[in-house]
Amino acid sequence: MFNTTTWNRRRYSLYAPIYDAVARRVFRRARRIALSQVHWQRGMRVLVVGAGTGLDLYFLPRDVELHASDLAPAMVRRLARRAESLGMDVQTTVMDAECLEYPDDHFDVVVMHLILAVMPDPQRGLDEARRVMKPDGQLCVLDKFQADDRPSGMGRQALNALTSAIATDITRQARPLLEAGGFVIEQDTPVMMGSLVRALLARPA
Ligand SMILES: C[S@@+](CC[C@H](N)C(=O)[O-])C[C@H]1O[C@@H](n2cnc3c(N)ncnc32)[C@H](O)[C@@H]1O
Repeated sequence: MFNTTTWNRRRYSLYAPIYDAVARRVFRRARRIALSQVHWQRGMRVLVVGAGTGLDLYFLPRDVELHASDLAPAMVRRLARRAESLGMDVQTTVMDAECLEYPDDHFDVVVMHLILAVMPDPQRGLDEARRVMKPDGQLCVLDKFQADDRPSGMGRQALNALTSAIATDITRQARPLLEAGGFVIEQDTPVMMGSLVRALLARPA
């Protein structure tokens, strides 16, 4: 009932005014590590999917072509304001990550931070990221994941019923998800809370 795109649009519209207070400091180091794993080059075309209020903007290079989208209009308004206040040229759009309105093979880098554990169907999000990414593109992921080598136990699944209703799934496994999406993981760095939060860099297989 709670894990739907409609619910996500509603709840993130409600969360938008308080999102920075909750997420800015907590994930600062993790964002820096995740984005430092990308092999940046001047002029790259970059898409930030589910960009929220734009907290990644502080850690993105300025000499790239930047596009950032989110499902919730309230998030996109804050994202656009942040880009303007930082003096960054960012094309901001309201868009569903499951149905990206971009051509195939378009982006050098796709950033998916704290969205794969939120979307009801992360596989569709990854399929779309793979579609719009160039064959030699890079996918930068930061999120909460269950360990790849064992499924979540009953305790975690019970806790997940609560966390997924209010914020995020904690039972998804990065490697199976990314590999099923046609990606090869190049870097996988635990960044917070042991190995719950991981920063991954992947490329199309
Ligand atoms: C936990 S927040 C992360 C925001 C941002 N990426 C960050 O790192 O701070 C999850 C974001 O994903 C967005 N979102 C959820 N489902 C989405 C979808 N299907 N398409 C695009 N954005 C989505 C929400 O609106 C919200 O802004």
